[in-house]
Order: sequence, then structure tokens, then C-alpha cells
Amino acid sequence: MARFDRDQFVADCLTAVRSGDPAHKQVKEIVDRAVSNPSGISAEVGDLTHDPMTTIWHRSDELTVLHIVWPPEVELFPHDHNMWAVIGIYGGREDNQFYRRIEGGRIEPHTGKTITERDVIGLGSDVVHSVANPTREWTAALHVYGADFYSTPRTMWRGATLEPLDLDTDLFEETLSAAAARARLANIPGERP
Ligand SMILES: [Fe+2]
Repeated sequence: MARFDRDQFVADCLTAVRSGDPAHKQVKEIVDRAVSNPSGISAEVGDLTHDPMTTIWHRSDELTVLHIVWPPEVELFPHDHNMWAVIGIYGGREDNQFYRRIEGGRIEPHTGKTITERDVIGLGSDVVHSVANPTREWTAALHVYGADFYSTPRTMWRGATLEPLDLDTDLFEETLSAAAARARLANIPGERP
């Protein structure tokens, strides 16, 4: 089994970002290479079912690298990034619903795309999406963003009417952790979440 080296992965992404445009294309190739070896990443990362679901591998103004686990049966509210993103799956499945922006800062559902193990998608900085894992499996993904994922002002859309609000990254983590807790409970024989 080929080894996956997390520090080398981050270093390669940083080199791509610092080499200039188009950094996201180079990063896509780096993520492609990484997720083509799922067992290598799994050996480095270990058990997916423990909190936190999001682990920060690198965070700076120029780059954020995250390891994100989508617990079974989770659905995350629509949000934008305001920076390019490259997302690679190395286990499980992630359903992306894309939205188009309409008047008044609102959005409406547009297209969708399901990605599974070894798939990589690149998202432009104006993309709005929501993400779901409708399966009983734990989905594991590498996420690379072209700026600081946590301090960049962003928007989320909540409720039946999809009202735009300032994005709260704590809510992002809380949603994943709550789904993880439900999934752990559901895996105990005789228990129901
Ligand atoms: Fe996203």
C-alpha cells in the first residue's frame, strides 16, 4: 500500500498556491493523486467516527486544508465559500445540491452532483451548494480552499424560505457532530436515536 503523508500533502498544496495561477488546477491534481489511494489516507487518518468531524490540517490567509467526515444521514445547509475549493472523496458518498443566486440575496435549487470514492470536484468562488450524505456509511473527504475558510465573510441560507445569513462555522461543526452522535447511537443494538 502506498503511503499517504499528510504533511507532504499540505506542503504540495502550499507550493501550488504560491506558484501562482491557476493554483486550483494544480491543487485538483494533487487531491486527485491523494484520493486515488484511499487505503493510504485511511491508514494516516484512522477512525472516522470520533469528534471532531472536521480536522484542520492547515489554516492561513492563502490556504485552508481540512479533513471532513460526513456522518451517515447528514444534510448541511446551503452555503457559499467566497474562495475556490477542491473536494476529494476517499470513502463513502457526498451529494451536492447546487443553487443559483436570485434577487434579494436569495437562492434557488439548480443542478446536483453525486461524488463517491476517488472523485474530485473543483468549485469556483461564487458557487453555492448544500451537501448531504444520505447513506449509512461515514463519508471521508479532503477539502482544500484558496483562502482562510474560517475568517472569510461568507453566507449561509437557512429555513424553508432560504433566508441569507452570515455564515457561522460553529453551526457547521455542530450539525456534523449531532449527526455523528445519532449515527453512533443507531449503531448500538436495541437503541434508537
Ligand atoms: Fe461547502
